[in-house]
Amino acid sequence: MIPRKRLVVLISGFGSNLQAILDASRAETLLADVAAVFSDRSAAFGLTRARDVGIPAIHRPFSPFEGLPEARRAYDAALADRVADYDPDLIVLAGWMRVLSCAFLDRFPGRVINLHPALPGCFPGAHAIERAFEAAQAGLIDCTGVTVHFAVEALDAGPVVASRRVPILPSDTLSSLKARVQVAERATLVPAIASLLG
Ligand code: GRF
Repeated sequence: MIPRKRLVVLISGFGSNLQAILDASRAETLLADVAAVFSDRSAAFGLTRARDVGIPAIHRPFSPFEGLPEARRAYDAALADRVADYDPDLIVLAGWMRVLSCAFLDRFPGRVINLHPALPGCFPGAHAIERAFEAAQAGLIDCTGVTVHFAVEALDAGPVVASRRVPILPSDTLSSLKARVQVAERATLVPAIASLLG
């Protein structure tokens, strides 16, 4: 029997991509288990999703580090310590809204991937779908997409694991575009994880 791999998922919000991973794990289309879910936000619904299926759901707020020297690095190093306790084969940033520094990334070389709701190199940072929609309305683009990439210290950048195009239709509203990008995210993320885990 092939041993199942171990994932740690970092989230900040609703956790729909986490749910796609949990569903694939349960359906055994992904031969991996989520060992723990971490969030920087206590209200992140993804924590509830994890707790409901008996997975450790860990809130790690940044606030105790605020004002400390090297606060960001100290937070990232402490987070890495806790994540390492779960011995992950792969760490998935699925809607995690903090850029991780080398204090975290260097602990898990080649084992941290991020999901970005735009094509590689496009619209880094928050509100990528909104900004793509505005660019389409201004006639600048007619296509956006999603990217799964290895995480580096730069925002939403790093070697691409998988990406998928999502056309922006003339009839699109922001909410119809968001819905299609979110479907594309789930369709891209789970196979990308599976391919990396071999
Ligand atoms: C996703 O669009 C992800 O790409 C972005 O934040 C969103 C998180 O959605 N970085 P969810 O928490 O997985 O529902």
